[in-house]
Amino acid sequence: MENLCKNYVIAIDGEAGTGKSTLAKNIAQKYGIVYMDTGAMYRCVTLDMLNNNVSIDDVDGISKILDNINIEMTNENGEDKFYLNSCDVTKKIREKQVNDMVSQVSHVPVVRQRMVELQRKLAKGKNIVMEGRDIGTNVFPNADVKIYLVASAEERAKRRFLQNKEKGIDIPFDEIYKNVVFRDNNDKNSNVAPLKKAEDAYEIDTTNYTLEEVENLVVSKIKEKIEL
Ligand code: DC
Repeated sequence: MENLCKNYVIAIDGEAGTGKSTLAKNIAQKYGIVYMDTGAMYRCVTLDMLNNNVSIDDVDGISKILDNINIEMTNENGEDKFYLNSCDVTKKIREKQVNDMVSQVSHVPVVRQRMVELQRKLAKGKNIVMEGRDIGTNVFPNADVKIYLVASAEERAKRRFLQNKEKGIDIPFDEIYKNVVFRDNNDKNSNVAPLKKAEDAYEIDTTNYTLEEVENLVVSKIKEKIEL
Protein backbone atom coordinates (compact mmCIF):
# COMPACT_ATOMS: atom_id res chain seq x y z
CA MET A 1 0.00 0.00 0.00
CA GLU A 2 1.22 3.47 -0.83
CA ASN A 3 2.57 5.41 2.12
CA LEU A 4 0.46 8.57 2.23
CA CYS A 5 2.39 10.04 5.13
CA LYS A 6 5.19 11.88 3.34
CA ASN A 7 8.12 13.17 5.35
CA TYR A 8 9.45 16.62 4.70
CA VAL A 9 12.87 18.28 4.56
CA ILE A 10 13.46 21.91 5.46
CA ALA A 11 16.85 23.03 4.12
CA ILE A 12 18.53 26.00 5.79
CA ASP A 13 21.72 27.12 4.08
CA GLY A 14 23.91 30.19 4.27
CA GLU A 15 27.18 31.76 5.31
CA ALA A 16 28.90 31.08 8.64
CA GLY A 17 27.38 33.04 11.51
CA THR A 18 24.09 34.01 9.90
CA GLY A 19 22.18 32.34 12.74
CA LYS A 20 21.36 29.13 10.86
CA SER A 21 22.05 26.84 13.80
CA THR A 22 20.00 28.69 16.37
CA LEU A 23 17.18 29.15 13.92
CA ALA A 24 17.12 25.50 12.85
CA LYS A 25 17.38 24.31 16.45
CA ASN A 26 14.51 26.54 17.61
CA ILE A 27 12.25 25.45 14.78
CA ALA A 28 13.08 21.79 15.38
CA GLN A 29 12.34 22.09 19.08
CA LYS A 30 9.08 24.01 18.67
CA TYR A 31 7.61 21.75 16.02
CA GLY A 32 9.08 18.38 17.10
CA ILE A 33 11.23 18.01 13.98
CA VAL A 34 14.63 16.31 13.88
CA TYR A 35 17.50 18.80 13.70
CA MET A 36 20.70 18.07 11.82
CA ASP A 37 23.79 20.28 11.98
CA THR A 38 25.81 19.15 8.96
CA GLY A 39 28.69 21.56 9.70
CA ALA A 40 29.29 19.61 12.92
CA MET A 41 29.76 16.47 10.84
CA TYR A 42 32.57 18.11 8.83
CA ARG A 43 34.00 19.31 12.13
CA CYS A 44 34.02 15.73 13.46
CA VAL A 45 35.94 14.51 10.39
CA THR A 46 38.43 17.37 10.87
CA LEU A 47 38.92 16.53 14.54
CA ASP A 48 39.43 12.86 13.72
CA MET A 49 42.11 13.85 11.18
CA LEU A 50 43.82 16.10 13.73
CA ASN A 51 43.70 13.36 16.38
CA ASN A 52 45.33 10.93 13.97
CA ASN A 53 47.82 13.37 12.40
CA VAL A 54 46.24 12.99 8.99
CA SER A 55 46.99 15.98 6.75
CA ILE A 56 44.72 17.50 4.12
CA ASP A 57 46.62 15.92 1.21
CA ASP A 58 46.92 12.45 2.71
CA VAL A 59 44.31 10.75 0.52
CA ASP A 60 44.82 7.26 2.00
CA GLY A 61 44.75 8.59 5.55
CA ILE A 62 41.50 10.45 4.90
CA SER A 63 39.90 7.36 3.35
CA LYS A 64 40.90 5.32 6.39
CA ILE A 65 39.38 7.93 8.70
CA LEU A 66 36.12 7.87 6.70
CA ASP A 67 35.98 4.06 6.69
CA ASN A 68 36.20 3.91 10.47
CA ILE A 69 34.43 7.07 11.56
CA ASN A 70 31.31 6.94 13.69
CA ILE A 71 29.46 10.22 14.21
CA GLU A 72 26.47 10.36 16.51
CA MET A 73 24.24 13.30 17.29
CA THR A 74 22.01 13.26 20.34
CA ASN A 75 19.91 15.71 22.24
CA GLU A 76 20.47 15.40 25.98
CA ASN A 77 18.18 17.54 28.15
CA GLY A 78 17.74 20.04 25.34
CA GLU A 79 21.47 20.22 24.55
CA ASP A 80 22.80 18.92 21.24
CA LYS A 81 25.76 16.60 21.75
CA PHE A 82 28.19 15.19 19.22
CA TYR A 83 30.04 11.94 19.66
CA LEU A 84 33.03 11.00 17.54
CA ASN A 85 33.85 7.31 17.84
CA SER A 86 31.94 7.26 21.17
CA CYS A 87 33.78 10.31 22.65
CA ASP A 88 31.84 13.44 23.51
CA VAL A 89 33.43 16.10 21.24
CA THR A 90 30.68 18.74 21.53
CA LYS A 91 33.12 21.39 22.72
CA LYS A 92 36.26 20.19 20.98
CA ILE A 93 34.78 20.52 17.47
CA ARG A 94 34.35 24.29 18.06
CA GLU A 95 37.97 24.92 19.02
CA LYS A 96 40.53 26.90 17.02
CA GLN A 97 42.44 23.98 15.50
CA VAL A 98 39.22 22.61 14.03
CA ASN A 99 37.99 26.08 12.96
CA ASP A 100 41.21 26.67 11.05
CA MET A 101 41.07 23.44 9.08
CA VAL A 102 37.41 22.52 8.65
CA SER A 103 36.73 24.52 5.51
CA GLN A 104 39.58 22.81 3.65
CA VAL A 105 38.47 19.40 4.90
CA SER A 106 34.91 20.04 3.76
CA HIS A 107 36.20 20.60 0.22
CA VAL A 108 37.92 17.24 -0.10
CA PRO A 109 35.68 15.41 -2.61
CA VAL A 110 35.70 12.05 -0.82
CA VAL A 111 34.81 13.70 2.51
CA ARG A 112 31.95 15.55 0.88
CA GLN A 113 30.67 12.47 -0.88
CA ARG A 114 30.63 10.40 2.32
CA MET A 115 29.05 13.12 4.45
CA VAL A 116 26.30 13.74 1.88
CA GLU A 117 25.56 9.99 1.79
CA LEU A 118 25.39 9.93 5.57
CA GLN A 119 23.16 13.02 5.70
CA ARG A 120 20.68 11.46 3.26
CA LYS A 121 20.71 8.20 5.18
CA LEU A 122 20.17 9.87 8.56
CA ALA A 123 17.26 11.90 7.19
CA LYS A 124 15.36 8.92 5.79
CA GLY A 125 11.84 8.53 7.17
CA LYS A 126 12.02 11.68 9.29
CA ASN A 127 10.69 15.19 9.24
CA ILE A 128 13.91 17.07 9.37
CA VAL A 129 15.35 20.55 9.46
CA MET A 130 18.85 20.27 8.05
CA GLU A 131 21.29 23.12 8.27
CA GLY A 132 24.45 23.59 6.21
CA ARG A 133 25.86 25.05 3.01
CA ASP A 134 24.69 22.77 0.22
CA ILE A 135 21.51 21.20 1.56
CA GLY A 136 19.13 22.91 -0.86
CA THR A 137 21.50 22.69 -3.84
CA ASN A 138 23.09 19.27 -3.42
CA VAL A 139 22.00 17.10 -0.49
CA PHE A 140 18.25 17.60 -0.97
CA PRO A 141 17.68 19.51 -4.24
CA ASN A 142 13.98 18.58 -3.88
CA ALA A 143 13.67 19.81 -0.28
CA ASP A 144 10.13 20.94 0.56
CA VAL A 145 11.31 24.33 1.85
CA LYS A 146 14.63 26.07 1.17
CA ILE A 147 15.89 29.02 3.17
CA TYR A 148 19.12 30.90 2.44
CA LEU A 149 20.53 33.26 5.07
CA VAL A 150 23.10 36.02 4.59
CA ALA A 151 24.46 38.83 6.84
CA SER A 152 27.42 41.23 6.82
CA ALA A 153 30.79 39.69 7.76
CA GLU A 154 31.22 42.02 10.73
CA GLU A 155 27.82 41.18 12.19
CA ARG A 156 28.48 37.46 11.74
CA ALA A 157 31.87 37.66 13.46
CA LYS A 158 30.24 39.56 16.34
CA ARG A 159 27.60 36.87 16.73
CA ARG A 160 30.15 34.05 16.72
CA PHE A 161 32.31 35.91 19.25
CA LEU A 162 29.36 36.20 21.65
CA GLN A 163 28.33 32.58 21.04
CA ASN A 164 31.85 31.40 21.88
CA LYS A 165 31.92 33.54 25.01
CA GLU A 166 28.73 31.88 26.21
CA LYS A 167 30.29 28.49 25.63
CA GLY A 168 33.46 29.49 27.47
CA ILE A 169 35.57 29.53 24.30
CA ASP A 170 38.01 32.43 24.27
CA ILE A 171 38.98 33.54 20.73
CA PRO A 172 39.70 37.26 20.00
CA PHE A 173 37.21 39.12 17.76
CA ASP A 174 39.81 39.98 15.07
CA GLU A 175 40.73 36.36 14.70
CA ILE A 176 37.10 35.34 14.34
CA TYR A 177 36.48 38.09 11.77
CA LYS A 178 39.46 36.97 9.67
CA ASN A 179 38.31 33.37 9.93
CA VAL A 180 34.77 34.32 8.81
CA VAL A 181 36.11 36.13 5.71
CA PHE A 182 38.59 33.35 4.95
CA ARG A 183 35.90 30.69 5.21
CA ASP A 184 33.45 32.70 3.08
CA ASN A 185 36.03 32.87 0.30
CA ASN A 186 36.83 29.20 0.61
CA ASP A 187 33.18 28.18 0.76
CA LYS A 188 32.11 30.31 -2.21
CA ASN A 189 35.07 29.69 -4.49
CA SER A 190 35.32 25.95 -4.09
CA ASN A 191 35.14 23.62 -7.08
CA VAL A 192 33.33 21.15 -4.86
CA ALA A 193 29.76 22.14 -3.95
CA PRO A 194 30.42 25.90 -3.60
CA LEU A 195 28.17 27.84 -1.25
CA LYS A 196 25.40 29.39 -3.30
CA LYS A 197 21.73 30.04 -3.05
CA ALA A 198 19.45 27.45 -4.64
CA GLU A 199 17.33 29.13 -7.31
CA ASP A 200 14.14 28.29 -5.48
CA ALA A 201 15.41 29.24 -2.00
CA TYR A 202 13.96 32.12 -0.03
CA GLU A 203 16.80 34.53 0.85
CA ILE A 204 16.87 36.61 4.03
CA ASP A 205 19.53 39.18 4.98
CA THR A 206 19.61 38.85 8.77
CA THR A 207 22.08 41.70 9.48
CA ASN A 208 19.48 44.03 10.95
CA TYR A 209 17.00 41.49 12.23
CA THR A 210 16.78 39.89 15.64
CA LEU A 211 16.77 36.13 15.84
CA GLU A 212 13.08 36.23 16.75
CA GLU A 213 12.22 38.33 13.70
CA VAL A 214 14.10 35.96 11.42
CA GLU A 215 12.40 32.97 13.03
CA ASN A 216 8.92 34.44 12.56
CA LEU A 217 9.66 35.19 8.94
CA VAL A 218 11.07 31.74 8.27
CA VAL A 219 8.22 29.96 10.04
CA SER A 220 5.68 31.90 7.97
CA LYS A 221 7.55 30.90 4.79
CA ILE A 222 7.65 27.25 5.89
CA LYS A 223 3.93 27.29 6.65
CA GLU A 224 3.19 28.48 3.11
CA LYS A 225 4.62 25.18 1.88
CA ILE A 226 3.98 22.55 4.55
CA GLU A 227 1.89 21.93 7.62
CA LEU A 228 4.09 22.05 10.69
O1 DC B 1 28.43 25.64 9.99
P1 DC B 1 29.85 25.41 10.47
O2 DC B 1 30.63 26.68 10.63
O3 DC B 1 29.91 24.56 11.70
O4 DC B 1 30.54 24.57 9.28
C1 DC B 1 31.87 24.16 9.35
C2 DC B 1 32.48 24.09 7.95
O5 DC B 1 31.87 23.04 7.20
C3 DC B 1 32.34 25.35 7.10
O6 DC B 1 33.62 25.76 6.65
C4 DC B 1 31.53 24.97 5.92
C5 DC B 1 31.51 23.47 5.91
N1 DC B 1 30.20 22.92 5.59
C6 DC B 1 30.01 22.47 4.32
O7 DC B 1 30.90 22.60 3.48
N2 DC B 1 28.82 21.91 3.98
C7 DC B 1 27.84 21.80 4.88
N3 DC B 1 26.67 21.23 4.53
C8 DC B 1 28.03 22.27 6.20
C9 DC B 1 29.24 22.85 6.52
